[in-house]
Amino acid sequence: MTPAIRATGAPDAQAAAAFIRGRVEGDWAAPVAGIVLGSGLGGLAQQLEQALPIPFSHIPGFPVATVAGHAGQVLLGRLAGKPVVMLAGRFHMYEGHPASLAAFPVRVLHALGAPVYIASNAAGGVRRTFAPGDLMLIADHINLMFRNPLIGPTEPGDERFPDMSDPYDPALRALMREAASAVGVSLQDGVYCGLLGPTYETPAEVRMLERLGADAVGMSTVPEVIMARAIGMRVVAVSCITNKAAGLSAERLSHAEVMEAGKAAGGQFEALITEFVRRLP
Ligand code: HPA
Repeated sequence: MTPAIRATGAPDAQAAAAFIRGRVEGDWAAPVAGIVLGSGLGGLAQQLEQALPIPFSHIPGFPVATVAGHAGQVLLGRLAGKPVVMLAGRFHMYEGHPASLAAFPVRVLHALGAPVYIASNAAGGVRRTFAPGDLMLIADHINLMFRNPLIGPTEPGDERFPDMSDPYDPALRALMREAASAVGVSLQDGVYCGLLGPTYETPAEVRMLERLGADAVGMSTVPEVIMARAIGMRVVAVSCITNKAAGLSAERLSHAEVMEAGKAAGGQFEALITEFVRRLP
């Protein structure tokens, strides 16, 4: 079956944002950040005060999330007293979506007024000292998805050739480290490598990634970060290491294990992001 063609440009994001705003009763408070919750990390949505959940399926331009463990909701609310917008669930290219659709929610977060994009994901640990449950602040990424959401005519407001020398905002990374020490969460630092999936890697691929300079590997985030940079959002991102990457332990990999490890690290992740939002200007 051919998936329906969806419009994923800047005007479509404005339409989705207008729909979401229309659900708010009373005054619209522009969010200080837009947050995407990775596999197993959806618990942060429960920390939202005055939460208003909106299913993806209601929002124009959003397909239904198909991955187990992704609730598929946009949630408006307050975290540490500040207005934020969260996405519990995201669109992956392995679901058959083009990169432009994988990145579309970031356009919508921007259209809702969020100046900062906070990405989170579940990832396999490539660095040999990483253990399940570790949190890693993404310092940089490698795009081995070989797709880019900006391919095609330039959308109004997009940068044609975005600079990627510092995609993960240095000041926000420093703020995340401060937040981590304030709440006593230990935070690693490393390079995230995005692959298409949906297979996990082979041990030979993991050894290759190690040589390329990757510390963690996953199947998301890269298109979103590219989009955020093209539209002028500041980015910060945290990976939850849910497993040692293939071949680095005797374990076989499963989505169930990834979800379990994500949930086990959930408390630390929630404390970290809440404290970070508290410190956002
Ligand atoms: N590889 C790719 N994606 C992942 C992994 C992994 O080992 N763990 C969680 N997401």
